[in-house]
Amino acid sequence: MKALILVGGFGTRLRPLTLSFPKPLVDFANKPMILHQIEALKDVGVTEVILAINYQPEVMINFLKDFEDKLGIKIICSQETEPLGTAGPLALARDKLIDGSGEPFFVLNSDVISEYPFAELIQFHKSHGGEATIMVTKVDEPSKYGVVVMDEESGRVDRFVEKPKFFVGNKINAGIYLLNPSVLDRIQLRPTSIEKEIFPKIATEKQLYSMVLPGFWMDIGQPKDYITGLRLYLDSLQKKAPTKLAAGPHIVGNVLIHDSAVVGEGCLIGPDVAIGPACVIEAGVRLSRCTVMQGTRIKKHACVSSSIIGWHSTVGQWARIDNMTILGEDVHVSDEVYSNGGVILPHKEIKSSILNPEIVM
Ligand code: GDD
Ligand code: MG
Repeated sequence: MKALILVGGFGTRLRPLTLSFPKPLVDFANKPMILHQIEALKDVGVTEVILAINYQPEVMINFLKDFEDKLGIKIICSQETEPLGTAGPLALARDKLIDGSGEPFFVLNSDVISEYPFAELIQFHKSHGGEATIMVTKVDEPSKYGVVVMDEESGRVDRFVEKPKFFVGNKINAGIYLLNPSVLDRIQLRPTSIEKEIFPKIATEKQLYSMVLPGFWMDIGQPKDYITGLRLYLDSLQKKAPTKLAAGPHIVGNVLIHDSAVVGEGCLIGPDVAIGPACVIEAGVRLSRCTVMQGTRIKKHACVSSSIIGWHSTVGQWARIDNMTILGEDVHVSDEVYSNGGVILPHKEIKSSILNPEIVM
């Protein structure tokens, strides 16, 4: 089977991290987001992944070449010269997607995290005989997503409304689809939204089905959701593979620490923390609800909570990083500095406190 991952877009909502890497390569739980997806696709027998891309293709290609061999899966790019939206890229990759087998293919938004129940999706898709299946999940705030109104019994979709202004329902499009090749006949090679133009049409013809996604789900394309997503992911890891999580007297709740990271004496770490490769957490540090990316040093007695620390940064002694602070790559925070919601662009040095949320250029 084949899969296409929609990788385009500038990832502006995840700046400053996306100033260093395209969104799919930003680490989540110590691994680039897209690798979580590619590994899960491989597990259900996908042999070829097509990346629909319109931004920094070289970075993406160079990076993923390494993983082609490691994972034993073919990864190819389909590059747009202009952004084609969420459906146009399927038309562009038509020849790559169709292989004469008539098999359905996967389409994924690159920023959604879940347990990826792809095996269940295949089974359900084959059982209903419709043209397309989308996974749906329940959320409290449906207005920022695509809302799906469906027949609870059969899963058949009656209506698909992208980002509705008024309440239509609380089941939303999770950005994970299985489509028959015939869906490609509905899409023209021009900028097109699959959510606004294609799904509503298939729903009208009663060919669109939806399946409620078992387990957790999150779109991690914004800092607040990224931090919530990490909590949900670690919670699920705790149930499925608890030995992957850190244990010990200095750990509270679910914590992921890369093997090559070093944690000093007298720290208190957790809950909901990911510490990446080659990080050094010095003595007496307090970390909670945060991600510390590769090569970062957190100096003695610093305290980091509800924040994301980008690659190769340093946080000084007695510093306090709080309230959705996002440090870009290679940011250095001086000793004793306090950051309350600062968003710091890459390669900066922060010498004085940031008392209220602001962007530091
Ligand atoms: N190749 C390519 N070209 N990809 C694109 C383009 C483009 O022009 N525009 C967007 N994408 C990719 C994004 O990188 C992302 O992986 C996916 O398409 C969806 O775009 P987002 O910008 O993340 O959309 P959203 O989060 O507002 O809404 C979408 O996702 C929700 C679930 O998270 C929609 O599919 C909603 O219906 C859905 O509920
Ligand atoms: Mg998104």
